[in-house]
Amino acid sequence: MRIFLIGYMGCGKSTVGKRLANKLGLRFVDLDSYLEEKYGKTVAQQFEEVGETEFRERERAAVNDTCTQFDDILVSTGGGAPCFFDNMEKMKDAGVTIYLKMTAMALASRLKNARKSRPLLRDKTQDELIAYIANSLSEREPYYEQAKIVVSALSIDVDGLVNRVYHAVR
Ligand code: S3P
Repeated sequence: MRIFLIGYMGCGKSTVGKRLANKLGLRFVDLDSYLEEKYGKTVAQQFEEVGETEFRERERAAVNDTCTQFDDILVSTGGGAPCFFDNMEKMKDAGVTIYLKMTAMALASRLKNARKSRPLLRDKTQDELIAYIANSLSEREPYYEQAKIVVSALSIDVDGLVNRVYHAVR
């Protein structure tokens, strides 16, 4: 089984992903960590050194690796991953996609102290942060909403999610 957890930065993909992977007996792979290990640089450093365009190419290759080379994994993707190239199509074909949905306001309050490690948010004031999130979330949702399972990230019942995953692969 292959599961892809998608959603905006700060929606809790890593936390939920680890718990879900544990319950389902799957290996947990964080796509950003995968890229950090592969290139020996943090995501922020990679943005700085090679720019977003090249980072997206690297991310695309990483999505491809997880779709083709690994089995029995749960992949927590970076917030932008489903929204570039044909990454979302690839993930939908390769496994069960789950969107952890959260409102822009909730995301903004969760992200206000976590801007540093995120190059897209780093230099924004609180007002700019809210506007940026609202705007980019509305651009990204058409991709996120294609997920097989859409779940509210604020009230996650991991056991309920496990059942929905089993139902989806039946
Ligand atoms: C990004 C999300 C980040 C990381 C990079 C870009 C995005 O991952 O891939 O900073 O475009 O939304 P998280 O969603 O894990 O923060």
